[in-house]
Amino acid sequence: MKLKIAAPLFSALLAAGCQQSAPPPAVDVKTLMAGKVQPTAEIYWNSVQYISDAAGSRKIEPKTDAEWARTQEAAATLRQLGEQLRSPGAAAGRGNDWLDYAQGLSDVAKLAEQAAKERNPDKVFEVGGSIYNVCSACHEVYMTVPGGARPAEPASSGTK
Ligand code: HEC
Repeated sequence: MKLKIAAPLFSALLAAGCQQSAPPPAVDVKTLMAGKVQPTAEIYWNSVQYISDAAGSRKIEPKTDAEWARTQEAAATLRQLGEQLRSPGAAAGRGNDWLDYAQGLSDVAKLAEQAAKERNPDKVFEVGGSIYNVCSACHEVYMTVPGGARPAEPASSGTK
């Protein structure tokens, strides 16, 4: 009898101890994605666009030094974000493929940086596609909410 009463108390203490000794991962991937990865990728992707509509076909591309620098900076930031995703705080509990995807992001971002440095719009555009593929590849395996790069609704919203 004594044991039965003591057991819940003991596990409660254990749980409390666990919470103290195991802090949450240093990198909150969801926040990093929404706050950094997505907006940075958008800066890069938006910098070169081929638009075809009723008004005809036209190309948007960086023109000034500042615009090219912005594109290059976005690429450099994506490279660093790939590094951050490889850090223990982000990679803990994931498979080795996580590190490969994160490395893939850094690798392709390096090409993106080079393309911007060369001021080559076609290359910026092309590498932009490769960046997207890396995002999607990791999401296919690790994003628990389905629906591509922008899971707009939390999974629980379906119950409404
Ligand atoms: C190494 C793996 C990995 C790579 C590479 C990656 N992501 Fe993610 N991303 C995730 C994971 C995991 C989630 C789900 C996070 C969660 O909900 O806890 C996510 C979620 C997101 C979300 C949803 C955030 C939210 O608020 O729910 C966006 C947007 C996103 N990623 C954009 C991108 C873009 C853009 C790229 C490429 C430039 C990219 N991701 C590359 C792993 C990755």
